[in-house]
Amino acid sequence: MTHRFALVAIGALALAACGSKVEPPVEQIVVRQPGQAAGAAPAAATDLVAAGKAAFAVCATCHAVEAGKASGIGPNLNGVVGRKAGALADFGYSAALKQSGLTWTEAELDAFIANPSGKVPGTSMAAGAVSDAERRKAIVAYLASLTP
Ligand code: HEC
Repeated sequence: MTHRFALVAIGALALAACGSKVEPPVEQIVVRQPGQAAGAAPAAATDLVAAGKAAFAVCATCHAVEAGKASGIGPNLNGVVGRKAGALADFGYSAALKQSGLTWTEAELDAFIANPSGKVPGTSMAAGAVSDAERRKAIVAYLASLTP
């Protein structure tokens, strides 16, 4: 239960930070109780993607992920894994991100999400850092599952 509360709290913070254009989180994280049979099994890849989709709620206030959907406060992240940083024509990127020379491998995404302005000084992504490594891993797995 604490996990779900933490997520809701982060979601509420993101909502407060972003103001409008907010979609409520649609997924729930299933937290298994100790002693439940399934809890002993290692998380399968699909569980990771599902957890990442839920954790992405804090990003969804600014980022669309549906193929072809217009960018919002942040650029559309559909197909971002393998994409050059700052590549979408419909989004006004910071010069810092455009000139970063980065390609979004899973490792680069992890580093950026951990600390956006540490990875790309001068980036206009002012919120959305995720300090929890497991949560970042899930979010990156979710992003990798999205194809254009
Ligand atoms: C408050 C709004 C906001 C939130 C919340 C946010 N972002 Fe961003 N994001 C941005 C903006 C604005 C940019 C463009 C940054 C720039 O141009 O320097 C960006 C850029 C990015 C990029 C680079 C995309 C590209 O096309 O090069 C990635 C990847 C990214 N964000 C991932 C995330 C993830 C994952 C989360 C959630 C953990 C998140 N962001 C949360 C606003 C946000």
